[in-house]
Amino acid sequence: MKKKEIQEKYLKNIKLINKFNKFYYDKSKPLVSDKEYDNIKNEILLLEKKYRFLKSQNSPSRIVGFKPSKNFKKALHRVPMLSLANAFTEEDLINFEKKIFNFLSKDKNYKIFYSAEPKIDGISASLTYKSGEFVKGLSRGDGKEGEDITANLLTLTDIPKKIQSKDFPEEIDIRGEVFIQKSDFEKLKEKFANPRNAASGSLRQKNPEDTKKIPLKFIAYTFGFEKGLKTNSQFEYLTELNKWGFKTNPLNKLISGVSNLIENYNYVEKQRSNLDFDIDGIVYKVNNLALQKRLGNVANAPRWAVAHKFSSNKATSLILDIEIQIGRTGALTPVAKIKPVNIGGVLVSNATLHNEDEIIRKDIRIGDTVIVERAGDVIPHILSVDLKKRSKKSLKFIFPKNCPSCGSKTIKEFNKVTKKNDAVRRCSSEDYKCEKISIEKLKHFVSKEAFNIDGLGKKIVEGFWKLKLIQLPQDIFNLDYNKIEKLEGWGRLSVENLQYSINQKKNISLERLIYSLGIRHIGLENAKLLSKHFISFSKFKNLSIQNDYEDLLNIDGIGETQVNSIKSFFSNKSNIRVLNELEKILIIKNAVQNSDNGLLKNKTFLVTGKLNGISRAEVKSLIEENSGKTISSVSKKLNFLIIGEKPTKKKVDYAKQLKIKVIDQAEFLKMLNKSS
Ligand code: IVH
Repeated sequence: MKKKEIQEKYLKNIKLINKFNKFYYDKSKPLVSDKEYDNIKNEILLLEKKYRFLKSQNSPSRIVGFKPSKNFKKALHRVPMLSLANAFTEEDLINFEKKIFNFLSKDKNYKIFYSAEPKIDGISASLTYKSGEFVKGLSRGDGKEGEDITANLLTLTDIPKKIQSKDFPEEIDIRGEVFIQKSDFEKLKEKFANPRNAASGSLRQKNPEDTKKIPLKFIAYTFGFEKGLKTNSQFEYLTELNKWGFKTNPLNKLISGVSNLIENYNYVEKQRSNLDFDIDGIVYKVNNLALQKRLGNVANAPRWAVAHKFSSNKATSLILDIEIQIGRTGALTPVAKIKPVNIGGVLVSNATLHNEDEIIRKDIRIGDTVIVERAGDVIPHILSVDLKKRSKKSLKFIFPKNCPSCGSKTIKEFNKVTKKNDAVRRCSSEDYKCEKISIEKLKHFVSKEAFNIDGLGKKIVEGFWKLKLIQLPQDIFNLDYNKIEKLEGWGRLSVENLQYSINQKKNISLERLIYSLGIRHIGLENAKLLSKHFISFSKFKNLSIQNDYEDLLNIDGIGETQVNSIKSFFSNKSNIRVLNELEKILIIKNAVQNSDNGLLKNKTFLVTGKLNGISRAEVKSLIEENSGKTISSVSKKLNFLIIGEKPTKKKVDYAKQLKIKVIDQAEFLKMLNKSS
């Protein structure tokens, strides 16, 4: 097809889909079946994906959510749904409290308690209950008048339809937030821009059956009109809500004093990225309902509440350069060097660009003005490019076709399992020929979960490589210590320490050794599976001679991808040489076949605090070798809590409360008939 024909076909489809939308949403008269509708929509999306020149403001890929429907009846709120004033700084909070004190004419020593509630970013709804029965549900609308979305709200499992508690008010509007969990949003990502949009769109579906398909949640937090409510405080009300069968936010807290509000704010903000729902701040409400009543409202917001907003986690910056980093597996990762910018209190100067495809998709160029997002602890990334600010001279970024470190060709592998080309471009050089790959491989070899060599950190590995002290893994065990002692920053003692820790690690388990080789797709878990399969190092090494790779597919957890990777590792002569050299130097412990009848049979363990000379990973494998199990939190299921230095007090206290045996390292080793 010619460009013009493609364009015509595309625009015709867009016109059609918009006609369907109009009839479906506004006139309640669908013109086509859902299937036909989806077919046309998919065709548009496919065309857009294939031909990047296609663009339309009316494309279903751009329209997020659904247009507000004209289908819903409007209804008045008996008590208006107010909005909240915002606070951003400590000063704003001090002023908020000062105004309350002045209004109530209280002196400084008076203590006001606040209900501090994480502010979920969803859509508010008001649910009317009469004689315990859910009779009507309205959206917020303009605060005075909302849409009657009863039928859709009825599909939410979080909304009780009938409440039988004796103390439930005769009549009440229960208010709260309808939202979608982040994990559920993942599945709807294609259709909506963000979880809030997804919630609002789903809630406004014309057909409640469509709303039912979306896992919408409801959290209750306030009330509107009421007759017969017997609570004196907001926090008490929240407890009542729970009793009546509503969900409330588990992070709600009762707090007094601005400094404590801030401490809680900082705590919740840290948790933000771990929560399964989006929050954009914390709402503080004067706890005492009588005081709330006295305080009343200003304009359309209450005087007794404020929303303490989180600082934005996005910022605008400039791309100064695009650097290519090379990883252990040869993957070329582009990183944007950006003009340093403060995002939520952290100075950001690097942002990941993920891979070549991402750069192409977003057409990111050096010199571009971009929006950078930093969410939680993940590496900041580029959200979008401001095309209006792009210079006319700007050039597309060309991803290197040769490795910037060794000059080898870079390739995109074809994944035999997914039958797709990898999104990641890699340096095609194998084993230890590429400098960057070698250094990364060596860093991995000495890393914590691998050989765990104290005093041989990443920087030292880089330094030793440059001085040609180490090139291959086996060189680590044949270091020229006299030479090192003469290097700047080294002395007799530090060299002796290094030598000691390297010698100590010559004793290694097969599992760790396999992991340390850094074979692609062979992480800790797979290394463990392989070591249990081979039992001894010689059998593992013999794989190269016996060529029986198919057999590996019988290991539960090992798939074709892993087998292909192992095959390519063993087909490389340098790798075999490394294995032979390591065999001469190391004492490789055979894998222990787990007996089901070990010393720790049916016993569960959890470690808290730092142990002496033994890592968590090692403790875990010791436990498993002896038929025990490790679990991740203190609960009734736990039998032994092993405590090391600086244990988490909470865990120890809770374990004691549950009468769980708390033991130290020596006692644990004694259980295994070992001395410490
Ligand atoms: S109370 C007068 N409590 O924030 C009190 N609102 O900007 C107003 N929100 O429309 C509502 N969590 O959508 C309240 N714990 C909470 C809230 C909350 C989220 C939303 C709600 C409201 C908006 C006000």
